[in-house]
Amino acid sequence: MMKILIIGMGYVGTTTGVVFAKQGHEVTGLDIDESKITSLRKGKLYFHEPGLQEMLLDQLKNGRLQFTSDPKSAIENHDLLFITVGTPSLDNGKADLTFVKSAAEMIARYKNKEKIIIVKSTVPIGTTDKVEQWIQQPANDSSSIHTAMNPEFLREGSALYDALHPNRIVIGSESTAAIEQLKELYQPFSCPLLVTNTKAAEMIKYASNAFLATKISFINEVAKLCDEVNVQITDVAKGIGMDHRIGPDFLQAGLGYGGSCFPKDVKEFTETAQSLGVPLTILEDVEKVNQSLPKYFINRVKEVYPSLKGKKVTVFGLSFKPHTDDIRESVAYPIMDQLLEEEASVIAHDPVVNLSTDWLKRGVTQCWDPYVAVKNSDLILITTNWPHYKDLNWARVRELVNHPYLFDGRNMLDADRMKGLTFLYRGIGYS
Ligand code: UGA
Repeated sequence: MMKILIIGMGYVGTTTGVVFAKQGHEVTGLDIDESKITSLRKGKLYFHEPGLQEMLLDQLKNGRLQFTSDPKSAIENHDLLFITVGTPSLDNGKADLTFVKSAAEMIARYKNKEKIIIVKSTVPIGTTDKVEQWIQQPANDSSSIHTAMNPEFLREGSALYDALHPNRIVIGSESTAAIEQLKELYQPFSCPLLVTNTKAAEMIKYASNAFLATKISFINEVAKLCDEVNVQITDVAKGIGMDHRIGPDFLQAGLGYGGSCFPKDVKEFTETAQSLGVPLTILEDVEKVNQSLPKYFINRVKEVYPSLKGKKVTVFGLSFKPHTDDIRESVAYPIMDQLLEEEASVIAHDPVVNLSTDWLKRGVTQCWDPYVAVKNSDLILITTNWPHYKDLNWARVRELVNHPYLFDGRNMLDADRMKGLTFLYRGIGYS
C-alpha cells in the first residue's frame, strides 16, 4: 500500500486517484478549486464519465480516498506526489504551463522532506526538468527530490476502463528511486512497461496524440475524395484497417477531432518543432484538414439548401465525443455559429450537455427529447456519434420531420437503411 497525493482534480487526476484507491492505495486528491473538492468530498463527480461516479463513492466509503484543498498538510504528509493539472493552449498554440508551475511552486513552499514527484500532465519536452528546478530552487528544505514523467493515455468517455486496462505504461526518469516506485505501483497491471528518459516520455505523449490525429485527418481527406468518386469511405477504412500495420482504429471519417487533447497537443507539438527549426509539416496539414471539415460539411448541406434562412435545423450532439459532457473544441459549436449566421432556426439535442445561457440567448433552443427536437425539422445534422442516435426509431423520425434531409457528420448510421426510409442521407465520404 502506498500513500499518494494527486495534485489537480480534472478528469485525469480524479480518474487516476479513484483507480489507485481501488488498487488498495491511500489516495488524497488536492485541488485549489474549492468547488471541485466540495463536490468530490460529497461523492459527487462534477463531470460526466461512465462508471466513475459509482467507483468514486465506493472508494470514499471504504476510506481509501479523500480530498482536500489544503496544500500545506497534503504536501507535508506525502512522499509520492502526482501532478495532473491542465496544460491548455495559449493563443500562440504553445502549452500554458501556468498550472504546472504553480503546482511546482506549491510543492516547493511546503516541501519538508525527500519527495518523489511524478508529472502526469501532458507537458512539452523539457518541462519535467523545469519542474525539478521550480521545486528545488526556492525550496526551504534541501532534501532531494526525484522526478519522473509518466504520461497518461486514457480517453474521456472511457477513462475508467482505460485507466484500469492500460495498453502500455511509460515511465520517463533519470532517477532510480522514482523508476522503482512507479514500477511497484504499476506492478498489478499486466501490460508492457517502457522505461526511458523524461524527454522521451514527454515526446511519446505528444507523438502518440499527433499520430492518432494524423490518422483521423488522413481518413477525412480520403473521405473528401470518396465524395468526388462515389466510393464509401467506410469500405475504404475497413479495407485498409485490415492490414495490421495500419489497424482499424481511428479511421472513422467524419467531422474530425475535437476535445481537450488532440487540438492542443497537435498545436503545441507543431509549435515546438517550428521553434526548434525542425518543422513538422505533416502536422500543420493535419490541423488544416481538421479545421476544414465544418465548412466542408455545411457546403454539402448547401448543395440541397442554397439558403438556410428560416430553415429549422436539428443538431444532434453537443459534446466533442460520446459519453462525455465535455464540449471543449466540439465541432457542434462552430457549426451552430454558421447556422445562426445563415439565420437558420437551431434546435440542439444532447443526452447530457446543458447548452450555456449564451447560446440560448443567441436563439438556439435546447431540447432533451430527440423526437420533439426533430418535429417539423427541415434538416437534421449529426455532430456527435452518441449511440442514442443509432438507437432512434428513424421511421418515427421520418414521419415527424418536415423535410427528410439527414446529414450525418459522423457516418454513424446505415446509409442504405436511411435511404430505404426515404431520407436524403449524406455523410462525409459516405452516402
Ligand atoms: C485522446 C487520446 O485518444 C488519449 O489516448 C489521450 O490520453 C487523450 O487524448 C489525452 O491526451 O488526454 P480523447 O481526446 O479523450 O483522448 O478522445 P478520443 O477518443 O481520442 O477522440 C478524440 C477526437 O477524435 C474526438 O473528437 C473523436 O470524435 C475524434 N475521432 C476519434 C474521430 O473523428 N475519428 C476516429 O476514428 C476516432
